[in-house]
Amino acid sequence: MKTFSSLAALAAGVAAFPHLNPDSMVERAAVPPQGAGYLPSSPPPFNAAAQLVSTSGQYVFKAPGPNDARGPCPGLNAAANHGYLPHNGVATITQFIEGTNKVFGMARDLGGFLAIFGAIIDGDGTSWSIQGVPHTGIGGSHHNYECDSSPVKGDLDQYGSNSANVDSQWRTLYGLQPDAATANYNLEVLSKFRNIRFKESVAKNPYFFYGPFDGIAVSQAAFTFIYRFMSNKSAENPEGVLNKEVLKSFMSYSGPENNLKHTPGHERIPDNWYKRNAADEYSIPYFITDIIAFAKETPEIISVGCNQGKVNTYQHVGLDQLLPGLSGAGASLGLSSPLCAPLNFLNTGAKSMYSLSDAKNTQLQNAIKPVASQIGCLLDPLLKPSASQLQACPGFSLYGGPTGPVAPGAIQS
Ligand code: HEM
Ligand SMILES: *[C@@H]1O[C@H](CO)[C@@H](O)[C@H](O)[C@H]1NC(C)=O
Repeated sequence: MKTFSSLAALAAGVAAFPHLNPDSMVERAAVPPQGAGYLPSSPPPFNAAAQLVSTSGQYVFKAPGPNDARGPCPGLNAAANHGYLPHNGVATITQFIEGTNKVFGMARDLGGFLAIFGAIIDGDGTSWSIQGVPHTGIGGSHHNYECDSSPVKGDLDQYGSNSANVDSQWRTLYGLQPDAATANYNLEVLSKFRNIRFKESVAKNPYFFYGPFDGIAVSQAAFTFIYRFMSNKSAENPEGVLNKEVLKSFMSYSGPENNLKHTPGHERIPDNWYKRNAADEYSIPYFITDIIAFAKETPEIISVGCNQGKVNTYQHVGLDQLLPGLSGAGASLGLSSPLCAPLNFLNTGAKSMYSLSDAKNTQLQNAIKPVASQIGCLLDPLLKPSASQLQACPGFSLYGGPTGPVAPGAIQS
């Protein structure tokens, strides 16, 4: 494990990806009036009739009852509250793909991989719960799916819960756009918030763990989805504006400005709200460009690392150590994509890391394959992920996979 003496040195985390140069990627041009960068080079089309999301009839808001699961994902909670997912919070892969597409315009490649991963890691292979009990839903999926340094949900080891909102985190986000009249929680704002939250976990969570998949991939989604999915699209702003009212509704906050209250599980799709255009769905390649944009402000997010049982002891775990053999093969693997290493990690490491059955491992590898080829990432079947690097992270070794704790070293396949 490489030891960095300070966070400043860590900011050079990009060096872990010798082939990754965010600046060489095509950056989306700034389109007025919504700030510099982070916007498509040409505005997407807008079609009011097709993009209005119904909140009436069969889709009217219905608060969850005592037996309905609501968990760490506000998008899925909202979909379940409005009948776009089963109200009990347990759905099949197909229901997740179609529900997230219908409400938010999540592209089926992204929804598909996320839904299948849930079914494999937190479910029975075909369905899963948006909360569940430990190891049977995404709420009990710490470091398998659910991660540290989330936007509003607390770090499990810091607060004893990963599904409860942390007031200070909410107030930080909310306060990043002080003027309600012009507020827009766009990707630029969220990039700043992502940076704040990463540093906060380093400074406050002794067991902060940032893994190859839960960290590099999932934790970015938790930030980019806020703007990409929750923003209200319109003819004037086809890429969307996310103002305070809409953010509060999706995040289940209400009450007077000086005393905003969170009601767990009551996430709500606002009336008269417009989703992404069908020609502009949020796909895996689109998500990757957002990760690269975030990495410019916070280079650490595309590397793996952890605190050592005390705050401010964050150490970087080199990918060459995590994936021995990578350094030789790396150059040809397509590592210019920040998701290539996580996919390779899952491809050969998930089976032992999550104690997957052969059937589930094959299901996962079959889901990884098209994503890898879509993004130009080669899968090296000979890479052997080294668990010892992760087991050395106390925040990781505290929790195992969905079928129970992973014995130290178990990942060496
Ligand atoms: C099948 C699709 C989806 C899956 C499997 C999924 C899964 C998850 C998981 C596991 C987390 C917890 C990550 C963490 O600990 O931070 C999460 C958080 C989150 N998800 Fe989703 N999600 C999906 C779709 C969506 C959609 C469509 C939205 C739209 C707004 C969304 C918005 C969010 C946000 C904002 C968070 C972070 C919450 C916070 O910490 O404040 N997700 N999701
Ligand atoms: C979304 O934008 C349209 C056009 O500006 C507006 O009429 C509608 O009220 C907005 N919806 C929400 C929920 O703010």
